[in-house]
Amino acid sequence: MAPRWLSLALLAVAAPSTLGSPTGGRLDTRDDSGNEAFSPPYYPAPHGGWLSNWAEAYEKAHHLVSNLTLAEKVNLTTGTGIFMGPCAGQTGSVPRFGIPNICLHDSPLGVRNTDHNTAFPAGITVGATFDKELMYERGVGLGEEARGKGVNVLLGPSVGPMGRKPRGGRNWEGFGFDPVLQGIGAAQTIKGMQSTGAIASIKHFVGNEQEMHRMSSVVTQGYSSNINDRTLHEFYLWPFAEGVRAEVGSVMMAYNDVNRSACSQNSKLINGILKDELGFQGFVLTDWLAHIGGVSSALAGLDMSMPGDGAIPLFGDSYWGPELSRSVLNGTVPVDRLNDMVTRILAAWFKMGQDQDYPLPNFSSNTDDEEGPLYPGALISPSGVVNQYVNVQADHNVTARAVARDAITLLKNEGDLLPLRRNDSLKIFGTDAGPDPQGLNSCADKGCNRGVLTMGWGSGTSKLPYLITPQDAIANISSKAEFHITDSFPSSVEAGSEDIAIVFINSDSGENYITVDGNPGDRTVSGLHAWHNGDELVKAAAEKFSQVVVVIHTVGPIILEEWIDLDPVKAVLIAHLPGQEAGNSLTDVLFGAYSPSGHLPYTIPYQESNYPESVDLIQQPFGQIQDDYTEGLYIDYRHFLKEDIRPRYPFGHGLSYTTFEYSEPALSVITPLDTEYPPSRPDKGSTPTYPDTIPPASEAAWPKNFDRIWRYIYPYLDNPESATAVANSSETYPYPDGYTTDPQPAPRAGGAEGGNTALWDVAFSVQITVTNTGRRPGRAVPQLYVELPDSLGLDTPSRQLRQFEKTKTLKPGESEVVTLDITRKDVSVWDVVVQDWKAPVAGEGVKIYVGESVLDSRVECEVGGGCSTL
Ligand code: BGC
Repeated sequence: MAPRWLSLALLAVAAPSTLGSPTGGRLDTRDDSGNEAFSPPYYPAPHGGWLSNWAEAYEKAHHLVSNLTLAEKVNLTTGTGIFMGPCAGQTGSVPRFGIPNICLHDSPLGVRNTDHNTAFPAGITVGATFDKELMYERGVGLGEEARGKGVNVLLGPSVGPMGRKPRGGRNWEGFGFDPVLQGIGAAQTIKGMQSTGAIASIKHFVGNEQEMHRMSSVVTQGYSSNINDRTLHEFYLWPFAEGVRAEVGSVMMAYNDVNRSACSQNSKLINGILKDELGFQGFVLTDWLAHIGGVSSALAGLDMSMPGDGAIPLFGDSYWGPELSRSVLNGTVPVDRLNDMVTRILAAWFKMGQDQDYPLPNFSSNTDDEEGPLYPGALISPSGVVNQYVNVQADHNVTARAVARDAITLLKNEGDLLPLRRNDSLKIFGTDAGPDPQGLNSCADKGCNRGVLTMGWGSGTSKLPYLITPQDAIANISSKAEFHITDSFPSSVEAGSEDIAIVFINSDSGENYITVDGNPGDRTVSGLHAWHNGDELVKAAAEKFSQVVVVIHTVGPIILEEWIDLDPVKAVLIAHLPGQEAGNSLTDVLFGAYSPSGHLPYTIPYQESNYPESVDLIQQPFGQIQDDYTEGLYIDYRHFLKEDIRPRYPFGHGLSYTTFEYSEPALSVITPLDTEYPPSRPDKGSTPTYPDTIPPASEAAWPKNFDRIWRYIYPYLDNPESATAVANSSETYPYPDGYTTDPQPAPRAGGAEGGNTALWDVAFSVQITVTNTGRRPGRAVPQLYVELPDSLGLDTPSRQLRQFEKTKTLKPGESEVVTLDITRKDVSVWDVVVQDWKAPVAGEGVKIYVGESVLDSRVECEVGGGCSTL
């Protein structure tokens, strides 16, 4: 957690309720007519524990929870308060049964705010590799480092934002602007992370597409992302479903509202979609300080409050903690709900094996000092050793370098200027090639743009243990390189006719609690243009040199028009956000040891006005922003295709130093799609049961002779009997409309983690032979897009990425047969009336395209009609 609590100290209690007009509205989940977005109530919270792959973990959890007191249970649901421990957040503990404070900590690219860790490439870089194995390997590295530092829950991967807003500050934390790329990236990352015993936390669920106005304060309410049911299912929910299917242990809710109900207490999203339809078995937590209501959130399905604080952080108050104890004792929150929260938390803990020798935190994200206060937020705190400086890097630099290298995306390479030769005469320009002049990690959470851009800023960062800059790496290889680490083109530079200029530029963004060069997280001031007058630098170089290579480190789409067509600009590379191995990964490609094999995880437009207006950032000083997702599914390339707008570089584009030919395409039917809707789901299995009697008040009483830490959040009450007295009085709690304790019928689209397992039946598979037809080794990325038939009766994007594979390194002349699987879900649309996924029977009319980008199809297949090369 960043020291941004000050700016948050004025958080409002006011919460958009999960209620609204029961008549629904324009963005109602079932209906697109009317006026107001509305999130329907969905109660009660479904129990976890009905799936066989979680059975053992649930059995252990059940046994333990059966023996816990009220205070012990509450302790596991609530953080101890911000800055009340080493991690971004930690729950209370249950020493009686050896359960420590569960440590939850950032980030999706490395353990944050510590030492001797690896700063891996960011999510957007991982997406650009289109390499499932590297996605997994990086996940393993992240998990091993989390474990090594004693982090129980690593707060990633991020698949929300999804890149709806090109200027959005945190798009770079995720894998790209497409639900399938995000879904595969997330699933592979989660599997890798959790293979080490660390619990992953997929975030931010959902609709957190811009940074400004994401949170509630006394003057304004966080924006409401108004998303209709179909768009939610076919786009924004997709990667979360893949994450749940990968058995993710926890889900973090977003700050904002969805359809006018705050995500942290949105019963439709948590109870209905996540826990019932997607069959999520782990636990649901708030984003930091996003908790805005006690009973409401418990009933809506929230399981953990992070970092535990109430409306005003650092006061020792909480919406839960003692208040949850009270609301259970007075009968408002059913004891059954509390039992389910704790069972879910412990089931995830047991499932990852954290009961077996899992390390305790051996670092402090609050200080670099060896010794310090154990609870810095307490003002008066016991002190001790807080940093043991445990080195968790192992050989993860190898994976970090491989990811950064295999993500490098070659946009243009006229006259095969690249790869460079060792003895080429090079002139290098731009501060983005060099170090931060003020020192490594000189600004907290990377809240500055100095030197090579290795990651964006905010909580999604980690410190760099070291940094190989492009300058270091080029100097290592070339003795004929001259460096001008400046963003103002030096007028004195002489350009020989053989000289090659390499110009480094970048574009940065981050999280809202830090403003960098006027950009409050989102790219408000910089827009989609290079920072530090990067365009001018390229143009100045192109005026003097006849051969210019441009290297771009960027958080997302960037406009290249001021110089991309200038004659001297021969080659352009996007190196994304490479982490600590920035330099080595780049020279691996620049000097030809590897062919570039990254592909764009988003579209690069000619101009920003090519995007629909509805995806602009929204700023509004007062009143809640209603952000209506009127463009529906038409995000990124889906929009460009629909409006017939030519992009500068399409989604999926990426050149190599060699060329590939696709041949012998074949389409096979694997599981026939005999029915429009998937076969019926299985019934739910049984879930743990507990007595539903309210525990004795004494279970929430302060233990005798207890040494309290000031401002620490405990589960205890001064006078627990008074809560029980309320339970016996006539006072009643105003339950939300639609509240019930009778279980809902099992949603037909559910049945297992992620949904009905039949959705992942492989319906078709496409085989192609990819041959390296050029003169250098290289790796191809065949991407498979589907076009769904009109017979489904719905407007669908004309291409949707559904699968990709990356070949091994093919030598010149070498071939590989690649198989690309297409599932039932891949050819389905979400039927808002039936509330299920609907496919064309037998896949009739489905068209399939395989190619090197969304616009570069090499193979076309029609179900029933065979395939041809194009
Ligand atoms: C961010 C989360 C992060 C959390 C803890 C929040 O501000 O939105 O992504 O995990 O802080 O640092």
